[in-house]
Amino acid sequence: MPYVKLSAPGDVQMPLVGLGTWKATNEEIDKALTTALDAGYRQIDTAFNYNNEEAIGSVLKKWISSGKGKRENVFITTKLPVFGNRAGDVEKYLNWSLKNLQTDYVDLYLIHMPFSLIPDDTGLSPKTNEDGSFVLDLEANNVETWKAMEKSLKDGKIRALGVSNFNAMQVKKLYENSEIKPSVLQVELHAYLQQKDLRATCKELNIAITAYAPLGSPHAKSHFIEKYNYNKTDFPDILGHPVVKELAEKYNKTTGQILLRHLVQQNVIIIPKSSNPERIKQNIDVFNFELSPEDLERLNALDRGEDGRIFDFRFFKGITKHPEYPFNFKEE
Ligand SMILES: NC(=O)c1ccc[n+]([C@@H]2O[C@H](COP(=O)([O-])OP(=O)(O)OC[C@H]3O[C@@H](n4cnc5c(N)ncnc54)[C@H](OP(=O)(O)O)[C@@H]3O)[C@@H](O)[C@H]2O)c1
Repeated sequence: MPYVKLSAPGDVQMPLVGLGTWKATNEEIDKALTTALDAGYRQIDTAFNYNNEEAIGSVLKKWISSGKGKRENVFITTKLPVFGNRAGDVEKYLNWSLKNLQTDYVDLYLIHMPFSLIPDDTGLSPKTNEDGSFVLDLEANNVETWKAMEKSLKDGKIRALGVSNFNAMQVKKLYENSEIKPSVLQVELHAYLQQKDLRATCKELNIAITAYAPLGSPHAKSHFIEKYNYNKTDFPDILGHPVVKELAEKYNKTTGQILLRHLVQQNVIIIPKSSNPERIKQNIDVFNFELSPEDLERLNALDRGEDGRIFDFRFFKGITKHPEYPFNFKEE
């Protein structure tokens, strides 16, 4: 498994492939993570608000106590929730995640969103207004939140720091105002949204890129509708694109493997999510073939720029009014 050396203090190496876990239930995690570890995965991507850290912690505990591996052999990423996104809440949510994951440290801690919402009384969800819109936190400041994360890193609870869903300007601002620089930017990245400018900025700043939704997140649509009643009209089917299908046939691989190979061949870290044993194995089995330069170009040509974005977060009703909302969208 190839690794990416992060800019973090110390020798922090991040595996190029990890298991995504968004929407994986506790029951699914048990089987999926066990299968993934057996298949060679050494990176897990979770978040406080995926509500599955406890199940991940249990599987890891079993894996370690059975002698199959050690804690330091697995790279764990988790994220500060959007409703905990303020300096004063970092320690609380980080400690909560560490407890759930049954570990003393995480390898990578990300600010999940550049914007911030007020939590409800439970602290487990964002607070909503009567019209269903979310209560924006306009006081929170990412530079201050970052300082609290730097402290936790110095305390030994985190090995590397990063952000997610930040735009280039937000990344640069944080970079210029931090003592410990961001090591990783996790963003939506797939054949339809290739983020070329953002990747160039990160390369200059020595920030590694993790691609989320590398397969185009086929399960996101039903989630947007069921949870938020938000129906994005032009939901893409990247796995079904004729060029992807043609290349799958040519290389005798699945369409998923073609999309994932397109990214790892460019040294982009990927975190495909699956709860299906066959697909879990398939998604890490992407290092025994190489796309020709011409075929890489054909996949590069599928880029739709901003039109390819699936996760615009407008399902958080009212979010575009937040000054840290990272994308340019006109209200519909
Ligand atoms: N930072 C953020 O804001 C953010 C946002 C979104 C996601 N993420 C992270 O990134 C991870 C990946 O993104 P994602 O889950 O949205 O989307 P994804 O990995 O692009 O797609 C996952 C979906 O594709 C299916 N699938 C998996 N492997 C497949 C294959 N080889 N062929 C066909 N279908 C396949 C899965 O179903 P089965 O389970 O049935 O296989 C699941 O429905 C998340 O799980 C999460 O860890 C982060």
